[in-house]
Amino acid sequence: MDHFVIVQALCRAALASPTPAVRRQVERLREALEAAGSAEQEAVIARLLASGERTAEMVPSRLVRSSATVTGEALTPRTAMPVDKETAQPLAEVVFAQDLPTEPPLLSPAMLRNVTALLEEWQQIARLEALGIPTAPSCLIFGAPGTGKTQLALWMAGQLDLPVILARVDGLISSFLGTTARNIATLFTFAARYRCVLLLDEFDAIAKLRDDPQEVGEIKRVVNAVLQNLDARRAQGLTIGITNHETLLDPAIWRRFDVQLEMPRPEPEARRRIALRYLADAPHREVLAGMIAWLTAGGSGAEIETMATSLRKRLALSDPGLSPYQAVLNVLGLHAGRVAAEPRAQLDHTPEDLARTLWQDQSLGFDQADLATVFGKDPATISRWVNAARRPRSRRERAT
Ligand SMILES: Nc1ncnc2c1ncn2[C@@H]1O[C@H](COP(=O)(O)OP(=O)(O)O)[C@@H](O)[C@H]1O
Ligand SMILES: [Mg+2]
Repeated sequence: MDHFVIVQALCRAALASPTPAVRRQVERLREALEAAGSAEQEAVIARLLASGERTAEMVPSRLVRSSATVTGEALTPRTAMPVDKETAQPLAEVVFAQDLPTEPPLLSPAMLRNVTALLEEWQQIARLEALGIPTAPSCLIFGAPGTGKTQLALWMAGQLDLPVILARVDGLISSFLGTTARNIATLFTFAARYRCVLLLDEFDAIAKLRDDPQEVGEIKRVVNAVLQNLDARRAQGLTIGITNHETLLDPAIWRRFDVQLEMPRPEPEARRRIALRYLADAPHREVLAGMIAWLTAGGSGAEIETMATSLRKRLALSDPGLSPYQAVLNVLGLHAGRVAAEPRAQLDHTPEDLARTLWQDQSLGFDQADLATVFGKDPATISRWVNAARRPRSRRERAT
């Protein structure tokens, strides 16, 4: 390609603060270079695209992975875990620092700022205390299932270079009267001994006790045990609690946490970026990510991941001519409960009608070239489709 150096500089400048449309145009350039057999130039553009993505996801560089000021013995694979006396089941598992996720879930810029500020504070506990500022390093993360709460908590511990004592609160609950409270005390005593982050996952499990009228005394005992242990823990180490159902959690427990972070369901642009992450190097990933963001309206990160992975498998196993549209239709039946009702109904229409819907939906940012990629048609056909004014007809209606 002539003037490639200038084109490359243009791409780099544009990708510094990319909109979806910019990314897609650069992706098209990459595809065109690939089709033209310009492997070297194609590789340059592919690298630019990849590094642009990393920048978009990057954690502010001020955050350096470093040991938080937490004291205690070191956990090792030989450390004996505390167990439930009745069942001999372990009350927690250890996730060592090297096994913690190195990437956070994709967070909104505001959430990323909050989390970064919190981690900075946790890294500087000693300094804050020397200044006479009290610290109570605890954080409750709440939000719908599958929004990345557990992954976030584990990643945070990794950033502090601390292993995690991971307790699923469900596993602490015993059918034997008094044993649940004892399990809680045992767990906290264990955590106090070691350098770690104590992670109380699925905290709402405690609330389940409430469903049983026989358990009124027991729930009181358990909530009190949690409160007492959380209070004592303030002076001992870092604690992260996680709950899907913040309303179920006892308000007194809720208040014990210094910081409360909400993991929201991802917005359209966040859905697109999560989809891009899990589509990895799948063909047509840019337009596919747009389609997944559209299909998973109201969904969680975990649902987007499942859908993206499913499409990636389908594309890997199908002949290369399969269009993104056909791939989506192919996997649709496998994700019946995951796809929002509105897009599911639209996918039942003819490709012509669907193309027009996608074209008219400004939030998707699809231009006609993108739609040509989606449907595997030439741009002239797409232009004819989107410019024809017809009432939508279903595929079934059309066949008759
Ligand atoms: N915002 C996100 N960005 C990237 N991946 C996500 C996101 N939310 C969820 N996931 C994916 O879904 C998986 C399940 O998330 P998890 O942390 O278990 O959710 P939760 O604890 O909120 O139920 C994660 O391991 C990750 O692969
Ligand atoms: Mg979880």
